[in-house]
Amino acid sequence: MQIKSCKTNHMKNPLGFHMTEATVSWVTANTLAKRQLVARVKVALDPDMNYQIYDTDMDAYLDSRGVTLPIKLEPRTRYYWTVTVEGDNGDTATSEVNYFETAKMDEPWQAKWLSPPWEQKGDDCDHPYVRKQFALSKKVTEARIYMTGMGIYELFLNGNRVGDEVLAPCCNAYDAWVQYQTYDVTNALTQGENAIGVMLANGWAKGRFGLGDAHAPYTNRFSVICEMHVTYEDGTSEIICTDDSWLCKPSPILFDNIYDGVIYDANKEIPNWCNTSFAETDWQPMQIINPQELGPLTARLSLPVKCMEEITPIELIKTPAGETVIDLGQNMVGWLRMRINAPKGTEIKISHGEIMQNDNFYRDNLRSAIATYTYIADGTEKIVEPRFSFYGFRYAKIEGIDNVRLEDFTGCVLYSELETTGNITTSDQRVNQLFKNALWGHKGNFLDVPTDCPQRDERMGWTGDTQVFTGTAMFNMNAYAFYVKFLHDLYEDQRRCDGMVPSVVPLFSHNRPQEPGGMVGCCAWADCATIVPMEVYQHTGDDTVLRKQYQSMKDWVDWITRKCAKDKTGYLWTEGFHFGDWLALDGDKDEHGRPGVFGGTPTSYLASAFYRHSSLLVAEAAEILGYKADAEKYAELSANVREAIQGEYFTADGKLKIDTQTAYIIAVHFNLTDFKADMVAGLKKLLEANNMHLTTGFIGTPYLCRVLSNNGESESAYELFFQEDYPSWLYPVSMGATTIWERWNSVLPDGSISDTGMNSLNHYAYGSIAEWMYRDMCGINPDEPGFKRILLKPEPNERLQFANAEVNTAMGLVKCGWKYNEDGTVTIEVEVPFNTEAELVLPCGDRKMLEAGSYSFTA
Ligand code: BGC
Repeated sequence: MQIKSCKTNHMKNPLGFHMTEATVSWVTANTLAKRQLVARVKVALDPDMNYQIYDTDMDAYLDSRGVTLPIKLEPRTRYYWTVTVEGDNGDTATSEVNYFETAKMDEPWQAKWLSPPWEQKGDDCDHPYVRKQFALSKKVTEARIYMTGMGIYELFLNGNRVGDEVLAPCCNAYDAWVQYQTYDVTNALTQGENAIGVMLANGWAKGRFGLGDAHAPYTNRFSVICEMHVTYEDGTSEIICTDDSWLCKPSPILFDNIYDGVIYDANKEIPNWCNTSFAETDWQPMQIINPQELGPLTARLSLPVKCMEEITPIELIKTPAGETVIDLGQNMVGWLRMRINAPKGTEIKISHGEIMQNDNFYRDNLRSAIATYTYIADGTEKIVEPRFSFYGFRYAKIEGIDNVRLEDFTGCVLYSELETTGNITTSDQRVNQLFKNALWGHKGNFLDVPTDCPQRDERMGWTGDTQVFTGTAMFNMNAYAFYVKFLHDLYEDQRRCDGMVPSVVPLFSHNRPQEPGGMVGCCAWADCATIVPMEVYQHTGDDTVLRKQYQSMKDWVDWITRKCAKDKTGYLWTEGFHFGDWLALDGDKDEHGRPGVFGGTPTSYLASAFYRHSSLLVAEAAEILGYKADAEKYAELSANVREAIQGEYFTADGKLKIDTQTAYIIAVHFNLTDFKADMVAGLKKLLEANNMHLTTGFIGTPYLCRVLSNNGESESAYELFFQEDYPSWLYPVSMGATTIWERWNSVLPDGSISDTGMNSLNHYAYGSIAEWMYRDMCGINPDEPGFKRILLKPEPNERLQFANAEVNTAMGLVKCGWKYNEDGTVTIEVEVPFNTEAELVLPCGDRKMLEAGSYSFTA
């Protein structure tokens, strides 16, 4: 037996995260035992587990999906824990010693916020190097730095960068809370002289960011606050804080923001600037400030953003236009690391694009985002990493280097530190590529905030896109902590909008609505508030996320209720602006004869349907959390909305009055009617009339194949799924896409980009088809939250020889796959993890109850 995946609040050994409570979880593997007999969690204050502060004792009910420790957490304290599990066959194991360490919690800050003394307007103002030299009189046994900086910062100690996290402190509603990070710097300090250094850049908070030509959405000055707590060998301690003895000087960053990139002049580097014994001539004292535009300092919730993967470029291209372009072979997010050896003063410019056009470099679909890294060489050979911004690209145009060598470049792929948990492989390379594209869309849009796209002048947390993709994301990656941070922001912004959930989170202050179009609570976008927490709970079985978000979920539904006051039934949401079935193909034509962006399904129907769905989710959450009165109240509300929808949008004999694919899909998926079979028939009729092609947008697409598969139309789901011409999921694959496109026809069959106004080639919404692949094609479904009980219901189809999925769930590895044998029989292979049970529904309809183990059935 082996205990794996030990997590605290769904993170491995978290250091300095915001915690009001600690929930530990683990996975038991490599055992012939089927069930847990007992388990025991111990918590101690030392790694040898001698000073124990909590012990569950052997407990038959201890739940590996999450045990919330009943201990009062103290600030700046490291807690160690182990778990022992005993299986029903006597097999037993104890985990390694895990830990979590709290941050400052409620401790007041002794450090002061500092800002450079010069004018800081604009993204091209002088950026500061900040330094402080200090002496430590005794040998250090423990040291932590608690710090943050606006817009983004990098920390150095004695000449070295601390840690491998980039773009700290990440992106959030800075006017509601500012995240600080904790660094264990015990080994970076020496007895005697030390020097600390900080570089600051504009980032999201101070640079150009947001809709329109918005600058400095949260602050218009660089700032930093830092507190170093040092413990000496003799038990005494000392705190070194930012104060007006810290010094600054302009750094080599001449310009930066998220959309436009960075200009960096290596000639302005100050050698040894953050080393000791450095001559501080001309350095100016930092000024103490009180940045009231920023929210209170709060320990981090954002996972660190890191270079999670590296990509070796595949081709060096000389274009007809004479450009030198590097092809990474994959649309990715991050930057190019490069070896540079150019004469002093050479301006090296890297431009980023997603697609080539007429064999030349192209970037017009990035709209106003300049997305360029410029490096002015100092004449020495160096490995350079851009930092302070990020780019969404497959192709990079290189200017200023004479003999470009492919081997001097590496793609550094940035995203939040998350484990990939799911994988699907089939006998069809096109299907495998589609799955990969969805996964790359996931990676590219999970840079701290779940974004719409990572490349153009947007890159924001559009709540609709998030909502649509969460069901897939939770299969792909262990994304609990990632969403907890996002939902925290969502509620912070929602609270200040009277319960309304904005269309973009974080909202960015200049977007703050006095009810402007687009930011007002829109159906399917704002329903992110109810759908995402429930999805995260269903995949993990840890109800902490529901407890944290419950008020937000309820406030959102109550806000809709107020919007429905004027409706004659009181239960239909018929007013306000909605994006609707965004980008569906059945909308009224625009002036160019193309379908308009809002799709053809009336938004009042969609809005009312989401009202019904969200109120039901609140009722379910209330039930789970034991809030009986609320559970009844919202269940009743949901039933009333359903009835009103039936009265308004259905005929007396149960026919849907709206004849669009999405209307039928929503009627089935949100259970709006008892006449399900009629709805499925209506959907099928429309598909057939459209030569078995979809017309759906953001609302209908995620559920389309799922509705077919779950209602006896698996064959139709496959037929749709396997279409290869526009509009279909495989069309972009046939066009060589390596990510998911924003539009069904972002690129036309002749290879030309269809439009530049709103046309991203890395937009994950339609990647939500991967959820159908996990759940229906391969058959893996959580039947009880966190896969405590699993429904395995694979749907083999002869268009494929085999399909296999594996998911590292909260309970352990689940596998489900099928293959056709030469004699025409089908073999289903499944793996069920320890301490769960699974119901396997075989393609012939037979059902089998399975306990932990591996199984194979041929029929
Ligand atoms: C974004 C979307 C978003 C939409 C709102 C677009 O510009 O890229 O994905 O949801 O606006 O409809």
